[in-house]
Amino acid sequence: MIFYALFCRTYQFIMKTASYFLPFHEPELLTGPGSLERLPERILEKGANPVLLVVSRTVARLPEYEVFRAGLDRADIRTVVYEGTVPNPTIANAEEALALYLANNCKGIIGIGGGSQMDCAKAIGARVARPAKSISAMRGVLKVRKRLPPLFLVPTTAGTGSEVTIAAVLSNPDTHEKYALNDPALIPAVAVLDPLLTIGLPPSITAATGMDALTHAIEAYIGRSNTNRTREMAIRATRMIVANVNTAYGDGGDVEARDKMLTASYYAGIAFTRAYVGYVHAIAHTLGGFYGIAHGVANAVILPYVLEAYGKKAEKSLAELADALSLTDSAASDYEKAAAFIRKIRAMNAEMKIPEKIDGIRPEDIPVMADRAFREANPLYPVPRIFDREELAALYRVISV
Ligand SMILES: NC(=O)c1ccc[n+]([C@@H]2O[C@H](COP(=O)([O-])OP(=O)(O)OC[C@H]3O[C@@H](n4cnc5c(N)ncnc54)[C@H](O)[C@@H]3O)[C@@H](O)[C@H]2O)c1
Ligand SMILES: [Fe+2]
Repeated sequence: MIFYALFCRTYQFIMKTASYFLPFHEPELLTGPGSLERLPERILEKGANPVLLVVSRTVARLPEYEVFRAGLDRADIRTVVYEGTVPNPTIANAEEALALYLANNCKGIIGIGGGSQMDCAKAIGARVARPAKSISAMRGVLKVRKRLPPLFLVPTTAGTGSEVTIAAVLSNPDTHEKYALNDPALIPAVAVLDPLLTIGLPPSITAATGMDALTHAIEAYIGRSNTNRTREMAIRATRMIVANVNTAYGDGGDVEARDKMLTASYYAGIAFTRAYVGYVHAIAHTLGGFYGIAHGVANAVILPYVLEAYGKKAEKSLAELADALSLTDSAASDYEKAAAFIRKIRAMNAEMKIPEKIDGIRPEDIPVMADRAFREANPLYPVPRIFDREELAALYRVISV
């Protein structure tokens, strides 16, 4: 294990150094209540007509969406709609939508919905850019390396941050696998952060997706591949989420809290797309792949246990996060501050009725899931401490009912 850990750390160091040479960029942003109405003019500017519109059925019923569709019609933008994306989107979803894109000679893609619709839109874009490569062949890092057609992403959860990240996460129901394509080419041309789209998000989804965003900020911050900017973004996101998620949960119509959550989710996206996530996400992906557990719920449940398991190795950075929230008096030790931070996460979960454990984990699946989580995280994720498969298996047992 010592040699393996050395290999992982060397790999991570190379990836971190290489990242300074990668074309990371941020999308053009449209922000604020009603900003979706400004998207049609951007679509015209980019020549993305006709455009494929990947939208969730829930979002397709929103009045803001109707206004947007009317704006597209007024601008003479022809749209082809794909509403079939499931939560934890599948390769088949992307292929089905790709067929629509090609049959209608589309020139651009809009993904409007949660991470599922946005990731599906990204995967379609990758297939258009690389027609000869299957999605599974683009799994991993830097396998796309080609310009996508103009891509416009509109999050309606806050959220995955997918609208600014290099990742698209896809599932294969046949093998229970869930994996990411990671490439700066997947960063969209334009992202729209319109809080009015998130007003109707039910409390349970507000809570789960908000905790997903918080997990991005924390896993990025405690990892070993931060830059000054990722640290700053992670701290800002953490502060904003802790201050606003409960309000958004309790009063969905609070536009200001919704706006702050969307911005925070975007900031957390900037942080983790460069500084990576950690074992919380690796475990959550297996739970999504095996049992369809919602991504945010899985993260929220696992987060405090993994932070505890990192022990001393994450203490200092968790203490800094506790300081950013003024959780303890400044004379407290790092140990006390880190413990206060983990207590805060547990309290937030409890306030928003997120369970402490996950029901339905089958003991016989644990070795396979632990192995997959191990292989997802290592050597890529610059986690504070490298766990072996047995330590990961123990975490699955701890969160089992
Ligand atoms: N690409 C990335 O960087 C990245 C990062 C984190 C997570 N992900 C992936 O994103 C997916 C999860 O995305 P998610 O958490 O946004 O959930 P989701 O997209 O699966 O949506 C969850 C539910 O919320 C509903 N919903 C969405 N917006 C709504 C609205 N405004 N009003 C009412 N209901 C609404 C959807 O219909 C769905 O039932 C997972 O597959 C995860 O792995 C991707
Ligand atoms: Fe996530």
